[in-house]
Amino acid sequence: MNAQYDEIAEQYARTRHSPLRRWVEQPSFLGLAGDVRGLRVLDLACGDGFYTRALKQAGATEVVGVDISPAMIALATQNEQASPLGVEYVCADAAALPDLGRFDRVVAAYLLHYAPDRSVLSAMCSSIARCLGTGGDFVTLNENPAQSDEPAGAYARYGFTKSLDGPLADGATIRYRMLAGRESFGFEACYYCRETYEAVLHDAGFGAVQWHDLVVDRAAADGVDADYFDAYLAHPPVIGLSCRRR
Ligand SMILES: C[S@@+](CC[C@H](N)C(=O)[O-])C[C@H]1O[C@@H](n2cnc3c(N)ncnc32)[C@H](O)[C@@H]1O
Repeated sequence: MNAQYDEIAEQYARTRHSPLRRWVEQPSFLGLAGDVRGLRVLDLACGDGFYTRALKQAGATEVVGVDISPAMIALATQNEQASPLGVEYVCADAAALPDLGRFDRVVAAYLLHYAPDRSVLSAMCSSIARCLGTGGDFVTLNENPAQSDEPAGAYARYGFTKSLDGPLADGATIRYRMLAGRESFGFEACYYCRETYEAVLHDAGFGAVQWHDLVVDRAAADGVDADYFDAYLAHPPVIGLSCRRR
C-alpha cells in the first residue's frame, strides 16, 4: 500500500480540479487546519504539496511536508522550485518519522487509513503525537468509518468509484477507482471503525477527538447545480477528524 502513489502521483495531482476537490475537499480541509498564521505546521501525506503550499501562503511561519512516495515528493519539490515559498519536503513514512522537531499543528489530507494494520495505525498516531507539544492539534481528512452501503458506482458522477472488500471490519481493503476524462487509475485504503481510531489516538496521547462533517463552498461553486453535491454529502466517503495532544 505504501508504494502505490509512486505509480499514480501525476494522475492523482491532476484530479485537483474536480468540483469535489475544489469546493468540498479544499474548504473542509483548510477549514479544519484553521488559522495557521505564525505557526509551525507539519503536513503529513503531503502529496504534491498543494495543501503544504496553501498553508504557507495562509501565513504559517514554517511548513514541512512529508510523504512516503518519492514520486510525490519529487512533484512537490518541482512545484517549490518553480515558485519558491520556502516549504521544506521530506520523504518519510508517517509511522516512523525522523526527528523533525516540534510543530504547533499537524495536518494530513488523507493519511491514517493507509495504515495496513492496527499496529501501524498506532505507530502513525504516536509519531504524530511526538511532533506536538501539549495542546497541539492534529487535524485530518480520513475515510469515513460510517461507510455507505451505496453501490460502488454511486459516486461515479463525482469522478470515482469506491468499494469495500469483504465485511465491514478493521483492516478490510477499500478500493478507489478515479475516473478523470479518459484516465482511470486506482488506489487502496483500509477500513477502521470509529472506536479503533478513537482508541489508538487516545493511547497515543490525544484527547478531544471530534469528527467533522464536510463543508461545501457554495459561493465559490457558483456554476455548479445547487443540488450537485447533495448525494455525495448524504453518504460522505470521507470525514474530518481533529484531536488535541494531552
Ligand atoms: C490521497 S493522497 C493525498 C495527497 C495530498 N494530501 C493531497 O490532498 O493532495 C495520499 C498521500 O498519502 C501518502 N501516504 C500514504 N501512506 C503514507 C505514510 N505511511 N506516510 C506518509 N505518507 C503516506 C501517499 O503517498 C499519498 O501521497
